[in-house]
Amino acid sequence: MTRIMIGSLTTLVAPSPPEVHFHRTQLVEDILRLKREKSVVMLAHYYQAPEIQELADHVGDSLALAQAAERTEAPIILFCGVHFMAETAKILNPTRKVLLPDAMAGCSLSDSAPPEKFRAFIEAHPHHVVVSYINCSADVKAMSDIICTSSNAVRVVNSIPPERSIIFAPDKHLGAYVQRITGRELLLWDGACEVHVEISTDKLKLLMGKYPEAKLIAHPECPEHVLAMADHVGSTSSLLDFVKRDASTTFIVATEAGILHKMKQAAPNKRLIAAPVYADNACACSECPYMKLNTLEKVHAALLNERPEIMLNEDVRQRAYRALRHMLDLG
Ligand code: 13P
Ligand code: SF4
Repeated sequence: MTRIMIGSLTTLVAPSPPEVHFHRTQLVEDILRLKREKSVVMLAHYYQAPEIQELADHVGDSLALAQAAERTEAPIILFCGVHFMAETAKILNPTRKVLLPDAMAGCSLSDSAPPEKFRAFIEAHPHHVVVSYINCSADVKAMSDIICTSSNAVRVVNSIPPERSIIFAPDKHLGAYVQRITGRELLLWDGACEVHVEISTDKLKLLMGKYPEAKLIAHPECPEHVLAMADHVGSTSSLLDFVKRDASTTFIVATEAGILHKMKQAAPNKRLIAAPVYADNACACSECPYMKLNTLEKVHAALLNERPEIMLNEDVRQRAYRALRHMLDLG
């Protein structure tokens, strides 16, 4: 079994020839100059490549980035993440120009809830309160009563009067987790993240046998069989905080491997091991193919051309805003 440790990551990378370094440095300088000249705020999710995280003004989870997007006074938001995150920024701060480095950076979870099918589903259950995970399109948000993220899903569900029935969409694994924690019965949409479902429990067990002192920490998008093995379950920010404050020295991290970059910076003396996946892929870890579509070259092109830009129908935006506002007002 191949295993990835952040400390050994660099050994997998062949040293770049001097001219590659030169172009890289030039590219980074051009990005910083364009950011400065155009007063751009650059937001990056924890799953972005380390070189993108390093250039961002804010790196965070989906909730923190939504809050940063709403607060910013910068005329341009360059959102280094996936489409639903950039859309959320536009919903919350519509007078800003919102750019996404690669327009194809989607999300399998968001795609699992096509708006027309979702509409039919909620129309079939007209008395349910509709709670949608932020990983969904603006159209789905616009049909929802309240949005949640992985960091506040439990609080959002607990805020709904106990006598009300609830639809939870689109992530059935996060929904099942919230159901277990809150004891509320949720009508779950049948969606999942293609990245988190790939974590292999058999390989995890082998790894835990090899590192019996390690704590397993997992994102709630993982299926129940993974979460049942975990010492801590939480959003990307919560996993990062846990690594910083927990006394253990070894952690197996069951989420997208991009988070290991910030974890390593925050806790340089701790051993961080990315949870293994079924497929024997290059990094033997979870990588979101959509998040990884963004590159420094595309960041540069987006800053230069001010494209691809997120555009929204104003009626959809306003309805999606209401659902997001309900979440943000919960604190
Ligand atoms: P966070 O809310 O932890 O940022 O998760 C977002 C995400 O897409 C996880 O796959
Ligand atoms: Fe979507 Fe999963 Fe990628 Fe997160 S990790 S952006 S849920 S596909």
